[in-house]
Amino acid sequence: MERGQTHLGALGWKYEVTYRAEFTGIAWSGCADAWEAWRTGIRVGEAANRFIGKIRPPGYPFPVDKVAAKRGAAVFEANCNSCHGGAESDKRLYSVAEIGTDPHRAEMFTQKLADGFNKFLAELETEGYQPPKEFGVRSTGKYFAPSLSGVWARSPYLHNGSVRTMEELLTSPSARAKISHRGSRDYDPAHMGYTDAGTYVFDTTMSGNSNAGHDYGTALSAEEKHELIEYLKTL
Ligand code: HEC
Repeated sequence: MERGQTHLGALGWKYEVTYRAEFTGIAWSGCADAWEAWRTGIRVGEAANRFIGKIRPPGYPFPVDKVAAKRGAAVFEANCNSCHGGAESDKRLYSVAEIGTDPHRAEMFTQKLADGFNKFLAELETEGYQPPKEFGVRSTGKYFAPSLSGVWARSPYLHNGSVRTMEELLTSPSARAKISHRGSRDYDPAHMGYTDAGTYVFDTTMSGNSNAGHDYGTALSAEEKHELIEYLKTL
């Protein structure tokens, strides 16, 4: 890892920053853009990382099948942990060619855009936040395999939010829904994700919205998928 640079905290901007904003009432304009960028493998300075790293994921609020979850830990270890576990480092950056998810974000997050984030982070003023001493956001052209803490609350999944539930992520890409809805606040515990409701229609056939790739775990049995999903709820 490069000196003075670490990846964003366990959840990245998507949840950590929004949850903090919701729970403490901090109005952080620009956070939406920032959370959209974190998955491109952006790097931020130590200070920003410490600030974000303090925020803990919310616990899963519904019952978990504990027996299944215990078995699911082994399924995770065998199928997911090599990429999503361990220390956060550049080793967790994967090429678009390997992961197969939509390439748009990786291609458009240029160093020029990264520098825009550096400026934002340097000029940001909010309680408890100290701007990084050195500018650390950079373009990598790759996708980062994020830690999966609080992943139950991060639906819809992937950097472009193209896969609505965990069950769908564990379904062969060609069989995933082409259209889904955004904006639901109702949770679907069986499939692990927000329900297919809300006013915004998400069309995966549009540019940047592809739900292809990341087919890991799709060949598992229905029972193993259930166990894995129950385990993921405990993270
Ligand atoms: C070869 C490495 C690799 C393996 C193996 C892998 N993943 Fe991933 N995973 C990634 C990368 C890279 C991303 C980011 C891709 C993107 O957003 O386009 C990702 C993204 C995700 C996301 C989206 C996170 C979010 O907040 O939206 C979830 C959930 C996930 N993986 C779960 C799993 C599970 C469960 C398994 C095991 C069945 C698994 N992954 C196996 C590399 C991997």
